[in-house]
Amino acid sequence: MSNTYDPVEVTPLHADEVARMEAEAVAAIGAAADLDELKQARLAHAGDRSPIALANREIGALPPQARAEAGKRIGGARKAIGEAVAARQAALAAERDERVLIEETVDVTLPWDRAPRGARHPLTTLQERIADAFVAMGYEVAEGPELEGEWYNFDALNIAPDDPVRSEHDTFFVESADSGMVLRTQTSPVQVRALLSRELPVYVISPGKTFRTDELDATHTPVFHQVEGLAIDEGLTMAHLKGTLDRFAEVMFGEGIGTRFRPHYFPFTEPSAEMDLRCFVCRGASAVPGNPPCRTCKSEGWIEWGGCGMVNPRVLVACGVDPARYSGFAFGMGVERTLMFRHDAEDMRDMVEGDVRFTLPFGMEA
Ligand code: DAH
Repeated sequence: MSNTYDPVEVTPLHADEVARMEAEAVAAIGAAADLDELKQARLAHAGDRSPIALANREIGALPPQARAEAGKRIGGARKAIGEAVAARQAALAAERDERVLIEETVDVTLPWDRAPRGARHPLTTLQERIADAFVAMGYEVAEGPELEGEWYNFDALNIAPDDPVRSEHDTFFVESADSGMVLRTQTSPVQVRALLSRELPVYVISPGKTFRTDELDATHTPVFHQVEGLAIDEGLTMAHLKGTLDRFAEVMFGEGIGTRFRPHYFPFTEPSAEMDLRCFVCRGASAVPGNPPCRTCKSEGWIEWGGCGMVNPRVLVACGVDPARYSGFAFGMGVERTLMFRHDAEDMRDMVEGDVRFTLPFGMEA
């Protein structure tokens, strides 16, 4: 017996049964509200275990003459179900895409409420650091105007109109030529203002902007910064000046970094000195024969930092201070130069251009 089961008819393959399965499938597919539901409907009505797939398996049980027709019927139904799935899939995907476009819209024209993070300019924070170092020694911060009277910038500081020092200060004069006003070429006029406006003794530190008619290049800028210090009291000597600057150098550059004085001339101090900083890279070692050279101090062991001296009695007199009773010292140095030393900044232009790529690494340092 080759065939024990050879029915003429198989119920699931009846035309109305197939039509019912197809209608049910198409309805379920059409009712799918989203792509997940559609997937469920597809598995239920077109998957391997769906009624139509199971019916398809029955075809082999039919007598050969009935198979073709049943196959055609099932095939038609499966095609219709497949098409319904494809159509619903396309409709739901389009709906989803449209919804995503709306829900996830970014309005690039909206005004934004976050300011980009910048950084404070390192010259600003350094000036604050310098001031802090002196405030810790009992000094007060003093200020003066950037547009300054010639008398404060020069005359009161013992720089007479025909003093050659004036020509060293390439001055921005303010129109008219006889206005008597200049953009201050140094912070030293703050000394005069401090003495004229404060009770003695006076201990002030004054960082600020200064101007000279230099071209901007790697080592010059027409707008730069100085810090001025002034101490006037009874009995102050050059030893106090030296001790103060040594302490300042240590605060700025670390323990053991002191200063040395070289004789010099400034009209407003007598005696005057140029002040060098112990090289903070080789700490002076490169100046000893046989030691490796130092690029920073050119193997001198010292780097020029600023000027200083005992305040000239003529300045005291110009400011109404009795030089028989009071004496004191003053000093001044460049803030840009100090920043170059402390942070290895090599080009003055970086400090002027305001590019955040230069300022950001300094952060918000308070
Ligand atoms: N004002 C001087 C300059 O611009 C720097 C200076 C030197 C300031 C000596 C001082 C000082 O107070 O005592 O070159």
